[in-house]
Amino acid sequence: MDGMPDATQVSSFWLAGRPATGDGRIVVTHPYDGRVVGAAAVPTQAQVEEAVAAAHAVRAQAAALPLHVRAEALAHVARRLGERAEELARLITAENGKPLMWARAEVARATSTFRFAAEEARRWSGHVQRLDTDPGAVGRMAYISRVPRGPVLAITPFNFPLNLVAHKVAPAVAVGAPVVVKPAPKTPLSALALGEILAETELPEGMFSVLPVPNERAAALVDDPRLPVVSFTGSGPVGWAIREQAPRKHVTLELGGNAAAVVCADADLDHAAARVGLFANYQAGQSCIAVQRVLVERAVYEEFVPRLIETVEGLVTGDPWQETTQVGPLISEEAAQRVQDWVERAVRGGAKVLAGGVRDGATFAPTVLAEVPDAAEVWCEEVFGPVLALRPFDTLEEAFALVNASRYGLQAGVFTRSLQVAFRANRELEVGGVIIGDVPSYRADQMPYGGVKESGVGREGLRSAMEDLTYEKVLVLTGLDL
Ligand code: SIN
Repeated sequence: MDGMPDATQVSSFWLAGRPATGDGRIVVTHPYDGRVVGAAAVPTQAQVEEAVAAAHAVRAQAAALPLHVRAEALAHVARRLGERAEELARLITAENGKPLMWARAEVARATSTFRFAAEEARRWSGHVQRLDTDPGAVGRMAYISRVPRGPVLAITPFNFPLNLVAHKVAPAVAVGAPVVVKPAPKTPLSALALGEILAETELPEGMFSVLPVPNERAAALVDDPRLPVVSFTGSGPVGWAIREQAPRKHVTLELGGNAAAVVCADADLDHAAARVGLFANYQAGQSCIAVQRVLVERAVYEEFVPRLIETVEGLVTGDPWQETTQVGPLISEEAAQRVQDWVERAVRGGAKVLAGGVRDGATFAPTVLAEVPDAAEVWCEEVFGPVLALRPFDTLEEAFALVNASRYGLQAGVFTRSLQVAFRANRELEVGGVIIGDVPSYRADQMPYGGVKESGVGREGLRSAMEDLTYEKVLVLTGLDL
């Protein structure tokens, strides 16, 4: 437990860039053993109103901020995240329960997210289009730029309490849009620490607020017309309800998935087993792109399965504070109990447990299932736990049809050495991203990221998110001597 944050501290929230204390607190506990690791001050309704009013008031000034001011603020955040990396990683482990190794990886990613945003901000120019391609438009030219849709309401999840906040704040700052963050109530501390770093910058008052309000108070923010953009990452039902609640707003949804990895007979089976075994279970499976369904070509199924089991059974599971731990607890005992219920129901339906299947408090052992029925939750829903389901296939048609036979479509991985298969996968798989030679869990923070079908709408990834938060505006110049 060395290096736990000060459990007696109540972290201030950020109201229009200033620290503030409200009239309540959210107590934050460590998922592994339930001990208190800190608390977040909760804003009053009047303080929420003040934050939203400030975001609304500063919107024109924010949109007019010179690019170098935005880029310098973003670069400052990247630098400070790097300097405070170990402290922040420990904060993430404390509130989220993810093992230190993954918490450190998350801080490194958040640092890159802000660095990429700083670079993109410096490249954020419009372009010109000559209009004299038409005789009626001689001497005319358009300047096309992208302008912010307006202040952003960012609602963020518990599974990446720093980097998924970074993915909303950094592009907003880069395009000059104020942002109001509502972090997940179970993990507000990392977002509040990020607020502390943002407050060191020269960004104008009102440019950012971090408001750890309970989920029941989010609906009022979603309704507020002064926040015309809602960017949500989290569960499907909540995300789609937001879209229905705010049909006239620009709503971006990064929702769940039950990601598939396809292992073809020509793959490097050791590599595939190592990657699938690890990335079905990293963060205890609590990533929208964790491997859940594994489709293996029948010719190599018998060879692949023991290698996969060996990897999964070799994963160091338990105390997230141990340097070597790879799989820690889920976010709560309740979440682990739900995973256990789903596994037990699958087994009652005929599934076989090849590894794991047992729970200890909030920790669920890395689990491999075979012969899982189509209707079992562990096959057709999002498990969000350390469970993978295996199935053999005979033809690529069959494998790709199985990948596509899902309500979700976030990312898919295909282990093959064939370029033909790679392009075919890209053509045929109904997902936002196809990863060849690796797991669907691969995400580079600068690339477009998002889903199709029930996995969401819109894209993150710095450049893509910047486009998502803005609209094209045309300035036509006339009477030019071109
Ligand atoms: C997610 O769970 O949606 C994000 C996954 C990632 O950023 O790696």
